[in-house]
Amino acid sequence: MFASLLCAFILSSLRLVLAASRTSPPAGAIVVRAGTTTSGEFSTITAALNSLPNDSSSRSVFIFPGTYVEQIDVTRTGPLIIYGYTTDTTTYVSNQATISFNEPANLAGSDDASGTLRIHKNNFSLYNVNVKNTFGPGVQAIALSQYGSENGFYGCGFYGYQDTLYANEGTQVYLKSYIEGAVDFIFGREGSAYFGGNTIGVLSAGGTITASGRQSNDSGSYVFNKNTIVLGNGAASGTAGTYYLGRPWSDWAKVIFENTVLNVAPNPALWSLWDGNATSVDHVINADFATTGPGAASLKRASWAQLLTSSQAAQYSISSAVGSTWSTWVDASYFV
Ligand SMILES: *[C@@H]1O[C@H](CO)[C@@H](O)[C@H](O)[C@H]1NC(C)=O
Ligand SMILES: *[C@@H]1O[C@H](CO)[C@@H](O)[C@H](O)[C@H]1NC(C)=O
Ligand SMILES: *[C@@H]1O[C@H](CO)[C@@H](O)[C@H](O)[C@H]1NC(C)=O
Ligand SMILES: *[C@@H]1O[C@H](CO)[C@@H](O)[C@H](O)[C@H]1NC(C)=O
Repeated sequence: MFASLLCAFILSSLRLVLAASRTSPPAGAIVVRAGTTTSGEFSTITAALNSLPNDSSSRSVFIFPGTYVEQIDVTRTGPLIIYGYTTDTTTYVSNQATISFNEPANLAGSDDASGTLRIHKNNFSLYNVNVKNTFGPGVQAIALSQYGSENGFYGCGFYGYQDTLYANEGTQVYLKSYIEGAVDFIFGREGSAYFGGNTIGVLSAGGTITASGRQSNDSGSYVFNKNTIVLGNGAASGTAGTYYLGRPWSDWAKVIFENTVLNVAPNPALWSLWDGNATSVDHVINADFATTGPGAASLKRASWAQLLTSSQAAQYSISSAVGSTWSTWVDASYFV
């Protein structure tokens, strides 16, 4: 009896240690707090960012709980980290800081301009912040628009419908985060991105997770490893059995899903065509490896799709996606 109590105590203490909280500003971070009247704090993220010098210095920002209705374009030159308040830094589940905006691309003028959070800088990291574009169905409406290199997103949440996460340029990693959408919701042209240990929520029948628009045999690709696919919040009935891992937006599309757990079944073909155009798959790499889970029982891959062998799968990794120097800028404590 005593031994089992002791054991439970040790286990719960261990969990507390692993589930680190961040409920006060890290040293040196400037503070954003909704409704603040405290001198030196900022009530919006935009105001906090505007207070920073645009130089090569390293800066950080800490966001207290709240929903911040802002559209933010981050452009300062030096390294920047934005941290959100959370009782568990290891996951998106306990995030309490949300940036939210409602802007469709047709009104904004472009996909990028519709982004709730736009990153046009290198050396940027985001921890435990949710980013939402609440426009919903109809047209493109981006939550995160990512153009920088050596940028990392850790324990974040990205919520949208069509085109949630625009990984359009630069080297970037998404680790232990949540990404939700319906149509082409991880997409871009020249992005080089690694996705590890995320939960991906699908929302619509016949929807597509990725749309790689790679236009030549450049160094870009989207490499996924150890992600779990689930029904998103409020997913349409009929989503199960009908969504796809992606469709090629151009004929050099390059998307690889390794060690994926399908908690909800996809269309057995796994991949679909862009506008039903079979000539658009000439050079496409749409591949998977070691796909498991209850949704993986009866896959019948599309004709151009590849089921990789383990030696083929070994060619795709975080290094192939974002370069062999990744360990100099990726936060290893989130690496999956
Ligand atoms: C910072 O400087 C860069 C490079 O000159 C510029 O592109 C960017 O717009 C500037 N950002 C801010 C916030 O001043
Ligand atoms: C990031 O910052 C480091 C140190 O300041 C610098 O050496 C590196 O070139 C930067 N990376 C990018 C992609 O700008
Ligand atoms: C694309 O480039 C890679 C190396 O960068 C090469 O191995 C591959 O054969 C090229 N593919 C085609 C279709 O040219
Ligand atoms: C099909 O895709 C190819 C390659 O992307 C493109 O050149 C062609 O115009 C497309 N055809 C149609 C009918 O969309």
